[in-house]
Parts: sequence; structure tokens; C-alpha cells
Amino acid sequence: MYPEYVVAPDRFEGNSFLLRSYYPGDGPALAEAVNGSYTHLRRFMTWSKPHTSVEEAEVLVRQFRGRYLLAEDFVIGIFDPTEHQLWGGTGFHLRLGPLSEARAEIGMWIRASEVGRGLGAAALRGMIQWGFTVWPWQYLAWRCHSENVASARTALSAGMRLVERRRDDRDEGRADTLIFGMARAEWRGAP
Ligand SMILES: CC(C)(COP(=O)(O)OP(=O)(O)OC[C@H]1O[C@@H](n2cnc3c(N)ncnc32)[C@H](O)[C@@H]1OP(=O)(O)O)[C@@H](O)C(=O)NCCC(=O)NCCS
Repeated sequence: MYPEYVVAPDRFEGNSFLLRSYYPGDGPALAEAVNGSYTHLRRFMTWSKPHTSVEEAEVLVRQFRGRYLLAEDFVIGIFDPTEHQLWGGTGFHLRLGPLSEARAEIGMWIRASEVGRGLGAAALRGMIQWGFTVWPWQYLAWRCHSENVASARTALSAGMRLVERRRDDRDEGRADTLIFGMARAEWRGAP
């Protein structure tokens, strides 16, 4: 029995950015982006660390590419339109159920040098447009820590609605997890 399979779309060209699967050779761009963003990322991105070598990053992008081709997880880079610099990362993650349910969670980080200029909201709008036109998703979600104001506002700015506020017991009641979502039928189309 083979696992579920989809020929995943590879790239989406936004007005001012490019979304695409990582390829072998993207390691240096990933290392450069995350190493300059550690202080900015460390609070809410549990995977971040002070230094990632080019070799480690190259292994990571090859793992991302492999899992993308196997339809296990769809990790996506946010590049400048010329593809010279990685501006951030996003992805369609199968955290809500198997591929056959067509429900994915979108994650995102934007490199420190590019935050606060509208890129996160634009990239999320791009992911939603791509997700509901070319991809087969029926429902897209976004999850964040309740103290992550920038993340919550990014979801709202892209048209998602707050669907659940979940108590995070690990945080001894100090913070909640906010879950935003949008169904295909709720999407109002490309701007
Ligand atoms: C969350 C993140 C992806 C947003 O990306 P961005 O490019 O900075 O966001 P934008 O410039 O498009 O702004 C989107 C909204 O967030 C608001 N915002 C941005 N930075 C903010 C900040 N530091 N504090 C409060 N609001 C902020 C903007 O005002 C805008 O809201 P509005 O449309 O209501 O005015 C980015 O800040 C990031 O990478 N954070 C660290 C990683 C992370 O937390 N990822 C999300 C995990 S769920």
C-alpha cells in the first residue's frame, strides 16, 4: 500500500515575492536568513537556534524537498522575486489530518530585516490564493500563541477568522493558543 500522493504545485509568483519549494542548493540562503534572525525568531519559533551551519541548512532543505515530493509535508520558502535572497519560510503542514481530508495548517516566519512592511500578510494572502486555486485544500488554518500579536494580526489581515481559543496547559494558564481558519467557500477570491 502506497501512502497518499499528490503532485504538489511547486511555485507561486506574488506581486513582490515568490513562494516555492526548497531545492538542493538553497542551504546557504536558509542559513543566512535564520542566522540573522535568531533574536527575532527565538520567542515563538521552537526550532530556532543561535547558529545554523550551511551544511546543516543544506541537509534541511534536502529533507524539505524529499518530504514535499513524497507529499508528507510541504515546506515552502518565501524568496525575493529574483530568488537571490530568502525572505522567510512558510508551508502547508498536515497537522489537521491526512492529506485525503484536504485540511492544512499554514506556518510562517519572516526574516528580521523584512518584518513589519506587509510581507507576512501578503505572503499569507498568496498562500491562501494558491491553496484554494491550484492546491486541493478545502480548509486552511493558522495557529499562534495568544501573546504573538504580530502573528494574530497577520491572520486577521489575510482574512482568516478566529475559530478557537485553546488553553495551553503547558504554559500554566498564562497564555492560550489561538486558532484561525478559512474554508474554501469563505475565500473571497484574489484581491
Ligand atoms: C508574524 C510574522 C510572520 C508577521 O510578518 P510581518 O511581515 O512582520 O507582518 P506584516 O508586516 O505583514 O504585518 C501583518 C500585521 O501584523 C501587524 N504587526 C506586524 N508586526 C507587529 C508587531 N511587532 N507588533 C504588533 N503587530 C504587528 C501589522 O501591523 C499588521 O497588522 P494590520 O494589518 O492589522 O496593520 C513575523 O512577525 C514573524 O516572522 N514573527 C516571528 C515568527 C512567528 O511568530 N511566526 C508566526 C508563528 S504562528
